[in-house]
Amino acid sequence: MPNLEGKVAIVTGAGRGIGRAHALALASAGAAVIVNDLGAALSGEGHDDTPAQQVVDEIKAAGGSAAASGENVADFEGAERLVRQAIDDFGRLDILVNNAGILRDRMIVNMTEQEWDAVINVHLKGHFAPTRHAAAYWRERAKEGDDVRGRVINTSSPSGVFGNIGQSNYGAAKAGIAGFTLIVAQELQRYGVTVNCLAPNARTRMTEETFDMGAPAEGFDPLDPANMSPLVVALSADDAQHITGQVFHVWGGAINALQGWSAGELFASGERWDADALLRELLDRFADGVAPPGMIAGMQAAGGQSLRTQ
Ligand SMILES: NC(=O)c1ccc[n+]([C@@H]2O[C@H](COP(=O)([O-])OP(=O)(O)OC[C@H]3O[C@@H](n4cnc5c(N)ncnc54)[C@H](O)[C@@H]3O)[C@@H](O)[C@H]2O)c1
Repeated sequence: MPNLEGKVAIVTGAGRGIGRAHALALASAGAAVIVNDLGAALSGEGHDDTPAQQVVDEIKAAGGSAAASGENVADFEGAERLVRQAIDDFGRLDILVNNAGILRDRMIVNMTEQEWDAVINVHLKGHFAPTRHAAAYWRERAKEGDDVRGRVINTSSPSGVFGNIGQSNYGAAKAGIAGFTLIVAQELQRYGVTVNCLAPNARTRMTEETFDMGAPAEGFDPLDPANMSPLVVALSADDAQHITGQVFHVWGGAINALQGWSAGELFASGERWDADALLRELLDRFADGVAPPGMIAGMQAAGGQSLRTQ
């Protein structure tokens, strides 16, 4: 395992599920970890300090260093306090894993404004706010001449990169997070910070209600949340300094560096298209029609397997 001794990490939403697995993996590689979790219900409501504290206790019991944070990642000032806590408690910040998330699934025809706003806020602003404050800290260190090896690891979703029915709020936020990754990776390269993104698949409270996700009776369990974390540890290593701006789909042991929005079917004209001619060309090239294949097809292409709905 890469040695992360001396490094300090923040993992958001680390009180359970995938974030908990990331926090345990980073701590066992030697990093001190701020375990952030609001302790919210799956819909984002409520606050409970217990899940974050339990993970801190688990890390400490195994001989690691950790501290709990109950900040809401979508609160701009709360996110600043979160970054400040890493520096105050452990002297520095090296790794920010943006993972906290909620779900409020609904078909677009019935989705409420609150369902839209809550999901966009926790995911999209909840990635922006901690990243913004961590980035300012790393820029300051780079200007002071430090050899910065900062890491931001974001969390998108197959729903965002392939598009899942019933999740226009969540998928739009997750597609936004993939786009955010591409842009911030380019902005922070000059300060020595890499920015990558996971599109995970795991059995957690977020997925087990919707999908048929039983664990195999024996052998490798591809949906164990801990399968998501070796990539986080690997990307956090100093040696990964030049791997940035990637969105990785992770299914069990199959990690696929996705190619998103690459150039596709070109309709080229040396002058402005005439709409009639363009329509004929569209119908000709898409003779059987064209529509997104959906999330399950995308997941199978990327990971060889996919979830099944119950
Ligand atoms: N489980 C999967 O297969 C899967 C697939 C794709 C993407 N994801 C993403 O992975 C991440 C982790 O999901 P999970 O499956 O472990 O879910 P989870 O519900 O088990 O964990 C999410 C955690 O985030 C915390 N949280 C929610 N809002 C917060 C806020 N505002 N501030 C701080 N903490 C907050 C919750 O309290 C919870 O402990 C999410 O971003 C999710 O969208 C999961």
